[in-house]
Formats: sequence, structure tokens, C-alpha cells
Amino acid sequence: MAANTPNFPTVHDPVAGLSAADASPADHPDSPLSRVLAQPFILGLFLPIQDGGWTPSHLPRSTTWTYDYNAALTQRAEALGFDLVFGLAQWTSKGGYGGDLKYRETSLDAFMTTAALASITSRILLISTLHVLYGPWHPVHLAKFGATLDHISGGRWGINVVTGYAEREPAMFGMKKVEHDRRYEMADVFVQRLKQLWTARENLTVDGPFWAMEDAYITPKPNYGRPILVNASGSPAGVAYGVKHSDLMFITSPAGNQLADAEASLPAHIANIRAEAARAGRSIRTIINPMVICRATEAEAIAYRDAIEGAADEAAVEGFADHGRRGDAQAWKGQRRLHRAIGGNLHLVGSPQQIVDGFLKLKAAGCDGVQITFYDFAADLEHFAESVLPLMHAAGLRVAQPAAPSASSAFETPSAKPLAATT
Ligand SMILES: Cc1cc2nc3c(=O)[nH]c(=O)nc-3n(C[C@H](O)[C@H](O)[C@H](O)COP(=O)(O)O)c2cc1C
Repeated sequence: MAANTPNFPTVHDPVAGLSAADASPADHPDSPLSRVLAQPFILGLFLPIQDGGWTPSHLPRSTTWTYDYNAALTQRAEALGFDLVFGLAQWTSKGGYGGDLKYRETSLDAFMTTAALASITSRILLISTLHVLYGPWHPVHLAKFGATLDHISGGRWGINVVTGYAEREPAMFGMKKVEHDRRYEMADVFVQRLKQLWTARENLTVDGPFWAMEDAYITPKPNYGRPILVNASGSPAGVAYGVKHSDLMFITSPAGNQLADAEASLPAHIANIRAEAARAGRSIRTIINPMVICRATEAEAIAYRDAIEGAADEAAVEGFADHGRRGDAQAWKGQRRLHRAIGGNLHLVGSPQQIVDGFLKLKAAGCDGVQITFYDFAADLEHFAESVLPLMHAAGLRVAQPAAPSASSAFETPSAKPLAATT
């Protein structure tokens, strides 16, 4: 409703007894996030808004970074009942990560892209990555932009807060790289300010640390207290940040990108995240991002993977690996990278039933869901829809979605309660 009634926002009262710091859209049973969290296994699509997707290979495919392509993927994913789409953000110099492909030289901005996607979708969550420390952004900027997107999307927009692990990116902004854990301290303060701005009923004045503001005020307030908050971390500092602030945490497989590596290492990793969340008095969901390479039989899937790998642009593969080595991300430091040209944090290769068995193993390891990538997105998504999705339903990983909200008059009478008076 809210997406179609911008003049009459459905802003909900705060949940009694919860401070701004602890409140989440998940506390509201009717929020888009709550609907998604009710799924047995969350299903997202990691959009290829960057040239080359996750795989610098010359094997022919439809995948492109263009807006129209990603918009069509998003609409198709929504029609198929996917819960979310997600876009990454990387800042590359000319030539990207190298090779003939100039891997990822061209990319759409995730923040802008999800803003545009908000108005052509009605049910799917839209998560965009943002480097909150680059620029620098000010919390007042992002609180305003986020509240705006929250209203445009009807509470479906979320931010993946990243602090920037890359060696070279800060210099693009004329900045020096800040030490790893210090960045999470800064992000913690930044997001505390966002939460205050999204909920405060009076002007805010603070004198730092990092960001000062005087008589700052943001309205409209977001529909469900605040937009959805996500982070993608594996380090102790990143996990501490995530359990304090995030609804969803994107995780990597600590030991390697093969399913057996994930099965061996994820249970302890996720158990630790859950224990940390419990200590913080919160709960958080974890989502991992597999590259799905699926064909009718395992042999055909392996042949597809080998064909992608056989056509790899080796200079780009090495350029991206070098970018990773130079960065200070801790989450994947211990990874052994088999078939590294394929990219992504985890590879699921096999028949439709093997892909579903892989999802079941990830769920047994503690994962609350996946956001998947493909090599040839449009074609592979259709194959997934026909052959894997029905098996996911049969396995109890997915339940039927309620119908998407229907388009209604922009001037329909509002049904929601008005904002509560200042307390
Ligand atoms: C699914 C996923 C998506 C990510 N997307 C981005 C991104 O778009 N931009 C970015 O700079 N880092 C991205 N990262 C990297 C994280 O921000 C972070 O640097 C990394 O997970 C290491 O965190 P840690 O040092 O806390 O272990 C992503 C990580 C994951 C797992």
C-alpha cells in the first residue's frame, strides 16, 4: 500500500518497550522483512550490476550489468517468489580488475539501482551496498535518503553497510585507509546516528565522535521504525557490529568455496554469530551467497562449470585475486579457492536435486538462506525456476507466497494509524 500511496504514508508506531537502538522492522508482523523471515529458507538473487558478474570468463552468455537487464531479472525474481535482490558496490579504476574483459570496470551503483527498482516492484526486498565511510557521507544524508527510499518502496529497502576492505578504494575519495577494527567502530557510530535520526521526535544535537550534528531532524520517519539493516562480515569486529545493528548478516564459508568446506566450517561460525547475538539480546539471520551451476545431471553441470572455467580470462582472475590479497577482509582469509575463476564465496554444482540437497545441508549448518548468483543469469534463472524451485517447495525450504499487494489508487484513504505523539 505504502508504495502506491506516497501522500498517506503508513508509518507505524514504535513497538512499546524497544529503544531506537534495538528496534527492527522485524518487530512489526506486517513488515516486508517479517514476511521474508517467515520463509523456512530465505531466497535472494545477487544481481549482476557489475560487468562480468562473479566470473571473468569468455564463455558466451546473456549476463550484462545494464539497468534493463537487472530490472528484468528483478521483476522475474519477484514473480517467482524470491525474497530479495541485492547489489554490491566496488570502486575500480580504469581497466577494472584487469584482463581483456576489464573485469568489473563498468558497474551500476547499487544504491541508485535499488531506488529505481523500488518503483517497478511491489513485494521483493531491495538491498543495496553502501560504503558508509567513503566520501565521507554524513548520517543526516543517509537518514534522509534512506527514509525516502523506505517510503518509495513501502518498507522494502535495506542497506548493506560495508566499511571498505579494498586497499585502493579510499584513495579515490582522497582518503587514507582506516584500520580494520577502527572502521567498524566508525560504522557503529554512523549507524547509531542513523537509528536516532530515523526515530527521534525532537531535534538531535551531538558533538561527535566522528560526526557532529546540531538540531538535525528527519521526517518522514520510515514505515517500520527503520529500513532493513544488513552487513557482510566474518571478523570478530564485524560480527560484533552486525549482531548489534543488523537484521541479516551475509556470511562467507570460512574454509573454502566447496560445499564440503562449508559444511565443515559453517556450523561453528554460525553458532558463534548466534551466541554473540544472544549475548547482545538480539537475533540475526545469516545468508550465504552460492554460485549455482545446475544442469539436468551432475555430469552436465560439471561440464558447464568446466566450460566456464576453460574460457576464463586468467589475467582478470589473477587481478581479482590480487585485489583480494591486498585487502584486509578477514572473512575469507582462510579460504582455499578451488575453481577460483568461477568466483563467489561458495559453489553449488549439480543436478536440481543436488542443488536442493546443498541448500538443505546449508540449512542444517545453520544458514537461514541464500542469495544466489548464476553465470548466465537470465537463462540459468529460468532453469532454476523450472527445475530447482519446485524441489525446494517439496523439500519444505519454501512455502507459498501471499499475493503481491495490488496496485491501488494513489489517493486511497489511509488505513494506518498516524504517528504517535512525542513521548
Ligand atoms: C555477500 C557479500 C557481499 C559483499 N559485498 C561487498 C561490497 O559490495 N563491497 C565491499 O566493499 N565489500 C563487500 N563485501 C565484503 C565485506 O564488506 C567485508 O569486507 C568482508 O566480508 C570481510 O569482513 P570482515 O573483515 O569483517 O571479515 C561483501 C561480503 C559478502 C560476504
